[in-house]
Amino acid sequence: MKIYLIGYMGSGKSTLGKGLADALGISWLDLDTEIETRYKISIPDFFSKYGETAFRDVEHKVLNDIALLPDLVVSTGGGVPCFHNNMELMNQTGLTIYLNATPALILTRIGPYAWKRPLFQKMDGTDTLEKITEHLKAREMYYQQAQIKVDAAIPDIKELKNQILDYFGKTTA
Ligand code: S3P
Repeated sequence: MKIYLIGYMGSGKSTLGKGLADALGISWLDLDTEIETRYKISIPDFFSKYGETAFRDVEHKVLNDIALLPDLVVSTGGGVPCFHNNMELMNQTGLTIYLNATPALILTRIGPYAWKRPLFQKMDGTDTLEKITEHLKAREMYYQQAQIKVDAAIPDIKELKNQILDYFGKTTA
């Protein structure tokens, strides 16, 4: 059973990913960390050295490799569903779960750490909420292709676990 967590930066994909993997008794993998380990470079450094297009190509390549692995919860980067045929690939090789977060929640979560995120490094801090709102709106059409949608403010791991087991035709332990 392979599960892909998708959603905007700061929606809680890593935290929920770890929790879900524990609950299901399978491994957890973070796509950004996998890229950093493989290419021996941090994501912000990759962006500044090679640019976003090269990053999206690498992201796609690593996702393709991960898609071949069995039982796994994968926390993806926020842009993954929006490039190449990644969304289709994830829907074909596993169960996609969208962590739906409001711009306000996103701002609260990433605000203090915005400098760590390449897509926010250029922001001056004054109209960040509007920028997030606009960006999220543009990405929504990809995120909405997920098979399960969850409220990022209150993800219920127990309920989600049941939905997942149901999807894969397994019974709750
Ligand atoms: C990105 C999100 C980041 C990371 C990169 C680009 C995006 O991951 O992949 O900075 O395009 O939304 P997180 O969603 O884990 O922060």
